[in-house]
Amino acid sequence: MTATVPPYAGAGNLIYRAAHVPRFRRAEGSYLYAADGRRYLDAEAANGTVAWGYDKRILQDALAYCEDMPALPSFCESDLRLEVLQRLERLFGEANDTPGRVELDLGGAQGMETALRIAFSAVGPGTVVVFEGAFHGRSGVTSMLSSSPRYRELLAAWGLEVVRLPSPDCGRCPHSAARTPGCTSGCVAAATRWGSELSGVGGTGFNRKVSAFIFESVQNVGGMAEPDHVLLRAAVDHARRNGAVIIADEIFTGMHRTGPRWGFQRAGVTPDVVVASKALTNGAAALSAVWAREPLADPTTYRPGSHSSTYIGIPHALGVVRAVLDRWDGWADPAADMDGLADRMSARLRKLQAAHPDLVSDCRAFGGTARLVLTGDHAPALRQLCLTADSDAGLIVASTGMAPDVINIHPPLVINDPDLDVMTEVLDQALNALRETVEARP
Ligand SMILES: Cc1ncc(COP(=O)(O)O)c(C=O)c1O
Repeated sequence: MTATVPPYAGAGNLIYRAAHVPRFRRAEGSYLYAADGRRYLDAEAANGTVAWGYDKRILQDALAYCEDMPALPSFCESDLRLEVLQRLERLFGEANDTPGRVELDLGGAQGMETALRIAFSAVGPGTVVVFEGAFHGRSGVTSMLSSSPRYRELLAAWGLEVVRLPSPDCGRCPHSAARTPGCTSGCVAAATRWGSELSGVGGTGFNRKVSAFIFESVQNVGGMAEPDHVLLRAAVDHARRNGAVIIADEIFTGMHRTGPRWGFQRAGVTPDVVVASKALTNGAAALSAVWAREPLADPTTYRPGSHSSTYIGIPHALGVVRAVLDRWDGWADPAADMDGLADRMSARLRKLQAAHPDLVSDCRAFGGTARLVLTGDHAPALRQLCLTADSDAGLIVASTGMAPDVINIHPPLVINDPDLDVMTEVLDQALNALRETVEARP
């Protein structure tokens, strides 16, 4: 494989691992169009951001909301910002059945740092508990939370103590008895033993406390792994009993990506702080929203100006959120429609599993998200074969370093059946090509 990083391009931003890196010119619906004329079905949706597919009317509507608006410093306010905050608060508060406050940030990692600031301002700084396989960003602080040590190699907040509960992915959890889905009492015990004299981790009764428990309702970079609901509920209850603030990272799972509006609703848990991002802007602006139930972010304790930055709430980002929220308001029953999408994806992926039992060991769909589990660490190769498949269209799917045996699928939530058929056809072809390369290996 030849890396083809242009000599003027910094290598840090993009992942050039293969000779074939398509260059895109435009997009429409669920398709991206490359400079060489080839089209690609997007079953990755810019890391789950482009929930509504590629629709330039979103930007046009956003422009109408913001074109006369000035950028403002952090001591000035606008009606547009207040409207967006109020509408966002409703989305979080309704689901948690309690009022809260929303503030904005620039992207996922920064939103997670703000969530930690709010938690620490409420209960004091302390240990943070996460699951193995977690991914919460690559900033200095969030790289401490994310599982891969690779993210911490160049910059990390080493002073932050982070404790990892066993992976919620049954295939990777050492406490899972038969490596079959579903948690045993051993798994639950492993996730709820901190805070005791023996665990090495503080909690109620210790000066050294755990200040936050952070979870993804379906791990994205961890390979689309959903914590068993009983396990997650037990972990949340245990954390709450030990005085930790419960933070839901809904950056990927939020806004129906996994079915309900928020992924935590799948397991029936109620977090104290929620961070959302991707589906609020459909990929058209960098923005995250951090909700904290009252009184966690009350201005008397979490003081005005505790967190800000020049570009938080620039007019075009607010205009984009408003345009995207208008669309969400107009979708009658997205949760039910996402259950339907999960069924339609499952049916197709099960067929692929049946046709390729030597290469596919499992599949599962949650709303507009699915995982195809392979029998070996073939996901990077299969992802590449999907791009170059000898078919009418290429296919964009994701794979990650943390779960090299899993193909992550998260298309625009508005994807239709003919496009799902194209996805299945290309995956089928790519699996056949993968078999040839696997068999050819010495
Ligand atoms: C669950 C989750 N948390 C945090 C992040 C980090 O977001 P950002 O890349 O906007 O910093 C991501 C990004 O993929 C994510 O999926």
